[in-house]
Amino acid sequence: MLRTIDWDGKAVTIIDQSALPGQYRTLRLDTVDELIDAIRRLAVRGAPALGAAGALGVALAARRHPQDPGAVREEAERLAAARPTAANLRWGVEHGLARLSRGANAVSQAAHQVLEEDERTNRHLSQRAADVITEQCGLRPLRILTICNSGALAAVAWGTGVGAIRVLAGRGAVNEVLVCETRPLLQGARLTIWELAQLGIPHRLCIDSAGPAALARGLVDCVVVGADRITRNGDVANKIGTYSLACAAALASVPFVVVAPDETVDQTMASGAEIPIEERAPEEVRSLGGQVLTLPQTPTFNPAFDVTPISLITAVVTTSTTFRGNAAATGSAVTSLQYSPQS
Ligand code: MRU
Repeated sequence: MLRTIDWDGKAVTIIDQSALPGQYRTLRLDTVDELIDAIRRLAVRGAPALGAAGALGVALAARRHPQDPGAVREEAERLAAARPTAANLRWGVEHGLARLSRGANAVSQAAHQVLEEDERTNRHLSQRAADVITEQCGLRPLRILTICNSGALAAVAWGTGVGAIRVLAGRGAVNEVLVCETRPLLQGARLTIWELAQLGIPHRLCIDSAGPAALARGLVDCVVVGADRITRNGDVANKIGTYSLACAAALASVPFVVVAPDETVDQTMASGAEIPIEERAPEEVRSLGGQVLTLPQTPTFNPAFDVTPISLITAVVTTSTTFRGNAAATGSAVTSLQYSPQS
């Protein structure tokens, strides 16, 4: 598979995730406005991929306005605001802007470095997360539940949550992956299922409300998800539906593990209460695949993400740190575990 997002020397190239799994096609984005549009309609999405998009977007802007840093900063700010919840997008933008005084080539080099480091970071992170999951569940074929897409499509390559599942599968430690469809835009059904099928990892698809039910019925050994923003105390914003899985996992004493690169950690925020939650268009709830599901003008509640407190999480594995459940009081990694694995 190509990189999810890349640079062809002049423009940003992406795998168009809005077309998968029906169609596998790439898009070439020449301007920051085209990139912003692709981000808003989730043609490129997932926190690490958005980090790369942020850095590449500043590279595009710096090439377009080589003598006008003010214009670059204006485009960069609009880019950073395109999706407010994933910390990585603004991180990528800031990473690019930090090189702006050294010229457009330095900004492009910084973006190139983000692309190069993504896969290495994710592979390392995934090994660490797989070790934590094995420590929690034992080395045996696991029934893993996940939501949304935290695979290669959510990053530049390899993935985070699904990256850890790939490592476990390589160790013979995956029985099956149960994938929540992830309404309203179906990243689980469209993207995670597509990736798992390509990887030959056994899987089943379920509707979102079946995820907590599977946990309650003892059909899941571990929940593994990615993250869009992690605050200093270890609280996690991730795709809407993650919180209900964490509640059900805690009630069932099933380990709940979050996997994300360091760039997803927002050191400026003390807790999840501060995380801005993106509210998306009513049409996403009112219709499915172009088919209207309800009365046309029905008011909706459509948050793209929810926040799971660290008290409900067994471990948040980042590139360099593992936050353990109940770390909220200290705001740092601790070694005590709140939940024990189901035998
Ligand atoms: O709205 P999306 O598809 O961008 O949401 C993505 C998620 O919630 C992912 O779980 C998260 O970005 C982690 S991806 C490694």
